[in-house]
Amino acid sequence: MKRIGILTSGGDAPGMNAAIRSVVRSSIYHDIEIYGIYYGYQGLIEGHIKRLHIGSVGDIIQRGGTMLYSSRSEEFKTGEGQAKAIEQLKKHDIEGLVVIGGDGSFRGAQKLTEKGFPCIGIPGTIDNDIPGTDNTIGFDTALNTVIQAVDKIRDTATSHERIYVIEVMGRDAGDLALWAGVAAGAESILIPEFPHDLEEVTEKIKRGHERGKRHSIIMVAEGVGSANDIANHIKDDLQVETRVTVLGHTQRGGSPTAFDRVLAGRLGAYAVDLLKGGQQGRMVGVQNNQLVHHDIIEALKLKNEISDDLYNLSNQLSI
Ligand code: F6P
Repeated sequence: MKRIGILTSGGDAPGMNAAIRSVVRSSIYHDIEIYGIYYGYQGLIEGHIKRLHIGSVGDIIQRGGTMLYSSRSEEFKTGEGQAKAIEQLKKHDIEGLVVIGGDGSFRGAQKLTEKGFPCIGIPGTIDNDIPGTDNTIGFDTALNTVIQAVDKIRDTATSHERIYVIEVMGRDAGDLALWAGVAAGAESILIPEFPHDLEEVTEKIKRGHERGKRHSIIMVAEGVGSANDIANHIKDDLQVETRVTVLGHTQRGGSPTAFDRVLAGRLGAYAVDLLKGGQQGRMVGVQNNQLVHHDIIEALKLKNEISDDLYNLSNQLSI
């Protein structure tokens, strides 16, 4: 393997830059030329490709976002788009590709591998919804962003004796809401992986109020539905003041935590090792603190496990 390419695709995540840095520097360390593909798969189709050097990735380890930019490409989902992408890779004599992103990005990597172009996927998404790895790059940073916001909301919630419904991202997954709910001491956590009963939510608020609690935090994953509807239900049922905060894209930005930087460094270097060793159609991950790799498609077929223990613990601690 003499030349490899790297791109970021789908929703950006803090730590993607640290992963790019790791892939670039590891490639150069192994005497492999490394090319940055800008604007995700769409940029690949359009040929936005540039050689990267050691200095190209200087001063980015601490930055959120992705220096290669990102996109969600509809064209790349078509056979024609994929053929154009392979043409561009061949034109630049690139022999392998590292893709950093979530499940959609991994499906793209698999398509290219099936068409004879070796790819390795690095999980980068705040959603933590990729099976085959305990953590995705960006999840820990987003989690910390959420709890910092919730801590601030608690101050004002106490002052005004209000119920706050806080909606967090995660697409169809509840990991971010679950971890944030436990870390921020939420009264109830509503996530798509577990059925919820709004009567139980209101009962808990009532019990808390009776023993002098001045506020309640209800953490809602976006995959559950509208935080506004939930807040209205609580307001009508209990005749209390409610407020809704949708944290939105603030969760995707910011400087990556030490955890995400180290994870990104490990996964980036490992992806280069695998390509160098002739592997393809694999995703890298960390499980039980060990670097692992799995067949991309087999991994995506698995159900993303959410921790029952953590969910039960949240119920136990918020009685
Ligand atoms: O996958 C990351 C994510 O932030 C999800 O949590 C969210 O549902 C989605 O992307 C938002 O996408 P966009 O930035 O395209 O609105």
